[in-house]
Amino acid sequence: MVTDSREATAGSLYVARIGEALDGHQFVASACAQGAVAALTSRPVADLPCVVVQDVQVAFVSLAQALVERNAHTVIIGITGSSGKTSTKDLLWSVLQRHGETVANVGSLNSPIGVLLTVCRITPTTEYLVLEMGSRGIGHIEYLTRIVPPLIGVVLNVGTAHVGEFGSRQVIGAAKAELVQALPPTGFAVLNADDPVVWGMASQTRAHVIAVGKSVRATVRALDVSLDPQGRASFVLATDQGTAPVVLGLYGEHHVGNALAVAAVALTVGMPLLEIATALGDARPLSRWRMEVHERADGVTIVNDAYNANPDSMRAALKALAAMGQGRRTWAVLGEMRELGPESVTEHDALGRLAMQLNVSRLVAVGEGTQPIDDGARHEGARGEESIWVPDTDTAYALLRQRVAPGDVVLVKSSRDAGLRWLGDRLLAGTGSEAPS
Ligand SMILES: Nc1ncnc2c1ncn2[C@@H]1O[C@H](COP(=O)(O)OP(=O)(O)OP(=O)(O)O)[C@@H](O)[C@H]1O
Ligand SMILES: [Mg+2]
Repeated sequence: MVTDSREATAGSLYVARIGEALDGHQFVASACAQGAVAALTSRPVADLPCVVVQDVQVAFVSLAQALVERNAHTVIIGITGSSGKTSTKDLLWSVLQRHGETVANVGSLNSPIGVLLTVCRITPTTEYLVLEMGSRGIGHIEYLTRIVPPLIGVVLNVGTAHVGEFGSRQVIGAAKAELVQALPPTGFAVLNADDPVVWGMASQTRAHVIAVGKSVRATVRALDVSLDPQGRASFVLATDQGTAPVVLGLYGEHHVGNALAVAAVALTVGMPLLEIATALGDARPLSRWRMEVHERADGVTIVNDAYNANPDSMRAALKALAAMGQGRRTWAVLGEMRELGPESVTEHDALGRLAMQLNVSRLVAVGEGTQPIDDGARHEGARGEESIWVPDTDTAYALLRQRVAPGDVVLVKSSRDAGLRWLGDRLLAGTGSEAPS
């Protein structure tokens, strides 16, 4: 099932949605050319056999609901939070698929349509359905849980991502709490005990609560966390079923919390502890531009984490850069964090200060909205070229091509719309003084 005609393949059912700007009925022919065999439409279209319904969106939802009802044995796991949903969803998929057939959202398709499309991929042999559930306001997750009711709900953290849209952290918390409020008494709420707003959700669910984190109240805990020189975390996974050492292949300490949430879900569905620990260690990044670490031929390490950015994920990435940079020169190339509303200047300023506190060697703030990063760094003691502001990614590329030397570690990160992921890709392609390919 596809809603984008360009993604149709042989045998697809094309769902002709009517969006704000475009009418999907215009693309039935293109879906047909790509191999679609039928279309769900609200009027007959000549190119393909059509299932004509009054409202395509309503029919699409009913179809997803019917699939969920028909496959009642499939355990549905919902994941939400401000940062790390896709990373955790990918990690959970990597672990659970060793235990039973698992379907999860592709990439970061976490919108209601993305969730419906994911649901439509389940089959009678699917044991686990892992759903990244995004939320851009009150009622969004509740709507999704009415269509696809999860048995297990994971809330990772409540930060300031999209705070400009939501209004406040409390409202963000209320929006994420909808996931645990929807769980049945037989269900499980996996809550980050280290995050006070998430932990506050323990009283808002009828489900069994599983606390994860470093906190003593956590029943799935990480002990003795350490980072190797590449910024990969090791820890002891402590549970009421015993302990197991975990060595992650993912970069950055923030993955420890994600791994604990994954371990809690996997234990709940009956996966043995040692198998979980091994699977966590074997997992590698599945979605692009999330702490992607590449070695260039000339010995420069490029860390491309520019899929998106908010204050929490920026802090996590800077800490990982600091860990990776021991004995090496480090560059933090940072673009704007969008959607922060009135907090924007303060948060960018704090980021510049943090980079200096972590002893990042060179800070490059790129583009509109990032001047406060440079200001913050200077207030924290940056001198001369230790911190620099450039107007755009082309200028940043020219500067880095000239200045980055073998052995340096370069972190590239920004909100998606600031587009620094492409700068990261260019830096990876161009070595030393070569022109970009
Ligand atoms: N637990 C975490 N805490 C803070 N940052 C994290 C955490 N997990 C992942 N990140 C970082 O946050 C960024 C976004 O990660 P990811 O795409 O997994 O989040 P997401 O919640 O799916 O984002 P989106 O809202 O865009 O779907 C990446 O830079 C990633 O390295
Ligand atoms: Mg995501």
